[in-house]
Amino acid sequence: MTTSSAPSATLRVLTGITTSGTPHLGNYVGSVRHSVRFSRRADVQSFYFLADYHSLIKVDDPARIQRSTLEIAATWLACGLDPERVTFYRQSDIPEIPELSWFLTCVTGKGLLNRAHAYKASVDKNTAKGEDPDADVSAGLFMYPVLMGADILMFNAHKVPVGRDQVQHIEMARDMAQRFNHLYGDHFTLPEADIDEAVATLPGLDGRKMSKSYDNTIPLFTPRAQLQKLIGSIVTDSRAPGEPKDTEGSALFQIYQAFADAEETEALRRAFADGIAWSEAKQTVFERIDREIAPLRARYEELINDPAQIERILLAGAEKARALSRPFIGRLRHAVGLRKLETPATTTAPKAARTAKPSFKQYRESDGRFYFKLLDADGTLLLQSRAFASPQEAGRAIGTLQAERGAALAALAEQLEPVDNAGLRAATDALEVLARLASGG
Ligand code: TRP
Repeated sequence: MTTSSAPSATLRVLTGITTSGTPHLGNYVGSVRHSVRFSRRADVQSFYFLADYHSLIKVDDPARIQRSTLEIAATWLACGLDPERVTFYRQSDIPEIPELSWFLTCVTGKGLLNRAHAYKASVDKNTAKGEDPDADVSAGLFMYPVLMGADILMFNAHKVPVGRDQVQHIEMARDMAQRFNHLYGDHFTLPEADIDEAVATLPGLDGRKMSKSYDNTIPLFTPRAQLQKLIGSIVTDSRAPGEPKDTEGSALFQIYQAFADAEETEALRRAFADGIAWSEAKQTVFERIDREIAPLRARYEELINDPAQIERILLAGAEKARALSRPFIGRLRHAVGLRKLETPATTTAPKAARTAKPSFKQYRESDGRFYFKLLDADGTLLLQSRAFASPQEAGRAIGTLQAERGAALAALAEQLEPVDNAGLRAATDALEVLARLASGG
């Protein structure tokens, strides 16, 4: 898999985990287990990091952040992440990240951040309560997507495995990369979100999605006896032993399924139909989970009792990461004009200087299909096409837009991502500018 922006044999995959809590079974099933397996692929270069700067936005208890950092690091290592193979580091050990975050802050529209889901949700909640829209909203929360953009762009990741709720952040990182590249030259790869549809979301004790915010989690490495107790407390209906039970909508069954193979799952399905007692079903689930977790738990306990060892591993990871980030930030500093005064003043903002006009960009995505976009003179995205089967078809649509301008926008609506009225006006203006330039006017 390659992206149009940075053809490269190895796929760079990067993801961060906010250090604000204790890993639970849902994290294991939904992310850790899959990522560790994926990181062993020979054609993949993985970056995993502890997003501790991000945790400051949500948590103001220093001890909890420290503890969570230790627990998450120990979890990933216990589950088999190989720090020799992957680059495994702590965000706050990489000072180039906050510096890049500032560079990106300066090319990110405030309006773009206004539209971020997490920020908007807070504003909507405040507005509904009749309070000031920004009540209790920190500037950190507002800037969250920029810091995340810096995490991703610093290592020019192609793919970012995330949950659905994070997709908008990856799109914003793409916008930032595009805008920076447009102003200062081609420095950043445009990242893509990678959502694994096959990965299960696990229900929690109360049947809702397992999540810290619902307080319904089963900690991944809780001691064996506690694991048994928690599984015993998963909600069920009140059917008596001997009565057939539904697998549909059963949290217990779904949790089992995330650990069991097809045959085991089928056996429990039959037992449900045959009226297995809930207590017995819970024992089966407990034993199956513990079989997978017990060896990892043993390793986890060793690791967590040796924080100095984890600290060493993370510092070694940071050195590996900084071997990339240090020279890269040097290049970016030079690009934006933070330079030694004795170096001759060149303008390596080539694109902005040479082509300060709207432009079409045609490209191929990793889905193998063809796209184009229309950018304004300052790199703002005006139009984004949908997929075309061939570059010729994409080219024809561009030709129509160049020839017929505003009038073509309605006719081509099916082939373009929707834009609002202001967007249509901006696109029409840009097409007019291009037509004038083309006719030498
Ligand atoms: N925001 C992510 C989350 O809450 C964590 C995160 C921070 C991240 N930086 C990142 C994820 C960079 C992927 C890439 O899940």
